Formats: sequence, C-alpha cells, structure tokens
Amino acid sequence: AAPVQYEAENALISQGVVEANHAGFTGSGFVNYDNVTGSYVEYTVTAAQAGQHTLTFRYANGTTANRPLDVTVNGTLAVDDLAFAGTGAWTTWRTVTATVNLAAGANKIRTTAVTANGGPNADSLSVDGGGGGPIAGT
Ligand code: GCU
Repeated sequence: AAPVQYEAENALISQGVVEANHAGFTGSGFVNYDNVTGSYVEYTVTAAQAGQHTLTFRYANGTTANRPLDVTVNGTLAVDDLAFAGTGAWTTWRTVTATVNLAAGANKIRTTAVTANGGPNADSLSVDGGGGGPIAGT
C-alpha cells in the first residue's frame, strides 16, 4: 500500500504553534516547536495490522545544531534521540526515516524535543504500509 501522510498541523501539539511563514511545506503549514525540552507533536496513525512500518518525517532546521526528537509509540520509547540535522535554511525541507513496530488499530506516535532548542519545524509524517498491511489514513 502507498504511504499515508499525516500533516503536523493536524496532529496534537503541546508547546508549539502552527505557522506558514517558511515556504515549501505541504498542507496548510508546519509546527514550530517551542524552544524548550518536552515540546511535542503527536500523530494518531491507524494500522490495519500489527507490524513494522517506516516513518518518514519531513522537517526544516535553519540552524546548524541538531534538534533531536525522542519517538514514542503508544507511550513506549521507540527511537532515542532521532537526529534532525540542520537543513541550511528554514525553507529547506528534508526527510528523516525510522522503522518502528505499530499495533493494529490506532497508534500514538509522539515526537518530543530533547534539548532546550526544541524540535525542528515539523511538516509531516508519512507512514508506509509495512509488512503489517495497509494503513488507514485520517
Ligand atoms: C526562527 C524561525 C522559526 C523556528 C525558530 C526556531 O524563529 O523563523 O520557524 O521555529 O527560529 O529556532 O525554532
């Protein structure tokens, strides 16, 4: 099945704001994480079956410092300090991938800033169908 894309601006946001002042995003904008540890974006992803899925995060980071995020799935740490390196400009968007296990049904994928710089600007999360069958988008 084709990947399903979830827009960050439609996700649950804690300590962040939706903005649209840096071109190149998809959907209606992106999430600007507050520059604090613990700010997060949480996507609800529905998997038809349990199994491994590749997550593709699209982001921009106009600074030269990595802005790592912890990725949890249903409250359990799945990826520690996933790196979001500088992209050269806030209008330059790149992707980072990680592979995680999803449960059948709804999954909460939370991406939390682990440094006082907060996260990168988050555009979207794409989830592939994986070995566990198709993903149902919302
Ligand atoms: C700038 C930029 C924001 C970004 C912020 C940051 O203010 O315009 O889009 O989120 O830096 O450093 O997090």
